Amino acid sequence: MDWLVFFRDGIAAWLPLFFAVLLVLMVYILWRTLQVMPRVTAAKTITSDANVSWDDVAGLDEAKEELREVIDYLREPERFSRLGARVPKGILLYGPPGTGKTLLAKAIASEAGAHFYAQSASAFVEMFAGLGAARIRKLFEEARKNAPAIVFIDELDAVGRHRGAGIGGGNDEREQTLNQLLVEMDGFSVNQNIILIGATNRPDVLDPALLRPGRFDRQIVVDRPDRLGRRKILEVHVKGKPLDPDVDLDSLAAATPGLTGAELANLINEAALLSARRGRTTIGEAELEEGVMRVIAGPERKTRVFSELERKITAYHEMGHALVGHFLEHTDPVHKISIVSRGQALGLTVSLPTEDRFLTSRSALMDQLAMMLGGRAAEELVFSEITTGAANDLERATAMSRQMITRFGMSEKLGPRVFGSDPHQPFLGRELGTEPSYSEEMAQEIDEEIYRLIDDAHQRAARVLVEHQHALHEIAAILIEHETIDKEQFERLLHGEPEQSVLAHETPPTTPTPEPQRKRARKPRPSRTPAASPTPGAAAARAVRHDDL
Ligand SMILES: Nc1ncnc2c1ncn2[C@@H]1O[C@H](COP(=O)(O)OP(=O)(O)OP(=O)(O)O)[C@@H](O)[C@H]1O
Ligand SMILES: [Mg+2]
Repeated sequence: MDWLVFFRDGIAAWLPLFFAVLLVLMVYILWRTLQVMPRVTAAKTITSDANVSWDDVAGLDEAKEELREVIDYLREPERFSRLGARVPKGILLYGPPGTGKTLLAKAIASEAGAHFYAQSASAFVEMFAGLGAARIRKLFEEARKNAPAIVFIDELDAVGRHRGAGIGGGNDEREQTLNQLLVEMDGFSVNQNIILIGATNRPDVLDPALLRPGRFDRQIVVDRPDRLGRRKILEVHVKGKPLDPDVDLDSLAAATPGLTGAELANLINEAALLSARRGRTTIGEAELEEGVMRVIAGPERKTRVFSELERKITAYHEMGHALVGHFLEHTDPVHKISIVSRGQALGLTVSLPTEDRFLTSRSALMDQLAMMLGGRAAEELVFSEITTGAANDLERATAMSRQMITRFGMSEKLGPRVFGSDPHQPFLGRELGTEPSYSEEMAQEIDEEIYRLIDDAHQRAARVLVEHQHALHEIAAILIEHETIDKEQFERLLHGEPEQSVLAHETPPTTPTPEPQRKRARKPRPSRTPAASPTPGAAAARAVRHDDL
């Protein structure tokens, strides 16, 4: 039994040492955890490094005017308090991505002169529970210390989402952070001279408590710019870039409806890059035009090799869109027809509205639907065969006709009613388990109405093409040869002018000839028409809500 005694005594002797080692290990692990855990850091004031001036924000006159008032208030609050006026505690900037919300906040930073604290809401959301709330507290603490101050929270929806929504309940940490924000907003009184500015492109997902009067009481929409706005934005972005003397920014603004400030900035940059690539010293019309196309549809893919048959099908497909678009009354003028592949599209037809439009009539939507189906109709007419090329057109046409019936109440049979909830419903979980707002029979009728609209549009497109079959064949042949036809050339060709005089200075591009063995392997890909061209439908949808139809 000696070994047992030895073992017992041994354990007794080693036990204190064992605990000591354990303790050291625990302290070490705790220390490592604290190292990894992010600190509660203060928000940065970006006043010093902001190099965006008030004039760099173009075209947002109403938003600027509203914000100007806030800046004036922070500078001389007496002017307002003398009249008993109360400026809003919180201002929410909302609108589509790239319209200049963050830019506007940066401009305020340099203009306000007051202390400016900026933080992106995503920085509050952390793995560690309670840290986001602590950061909010710290941010406001600091702002209070340095009042008058502006606190700017970008991408507010990262913390401000509706509480308790979605499958599986809310995110506890996010809710804690939001609650802290609500508490802080209640905590500063009017005379504390702190103004909170938030920015988001999803105001619809924000918690109602954030939007009530007394919190974000002023909500300013920062929308896509109109023609004048686009012109001003272009002017800001061409500053310091040498342009050809004949460049007309006004017509460029007219040719870019629906583009946001960020897209316009991108367009100018693309044009500048292209000019550099072509070894030019200035930026010309051609580069700007190509910049627009790059923003709308992506860069050209000249190296893609197509078979003769594919080029022919694509040309007829695009001509189908163009002719239907041209001859129907309520469609926008065709701006460009091309069979040069861009992005995923094999070819594209761009039509542009002549002016900004915020409402779209039923007739316009019907004509647009017919134009979308013009490509497929041309394929049927000429080749008595259909291809996968119309997939994207069909997708858009189906979505549009569904919207016409279920959201815009444009079905004569079903009347002015909305069916179901908004398809853009952000919370998957919220509608789950609730009954649809219409019966199964009604669902069937909706399907039938969608079919009827599409069928009607398809037949109208086919009728137009049969009527103008001569032009279809003639201009499609020219398109195959020249690859791109612009608005003016298209109209002149339709008026019967000969190809030689219309496309006199243009030499047909040398297209790469396909290698015979590659021919068969290549399948036609879906073509978009026009890829992302601003359609009146999109304009109407914008007037209703802030995204695409
Ligand atoms: N009104 C404008 N005037 C001049 N430039 C603009 C304007 N709007 C956008 N831009 C350009 O687009 C860029 C991006 O804009 P910004 O970051 O402000 O978009 P945003 O509205 O904050 O978008 P998001 O909602 O995606 O955050 C700016 O840096 C600027 O170059
Ligand atoms: Mg932003």
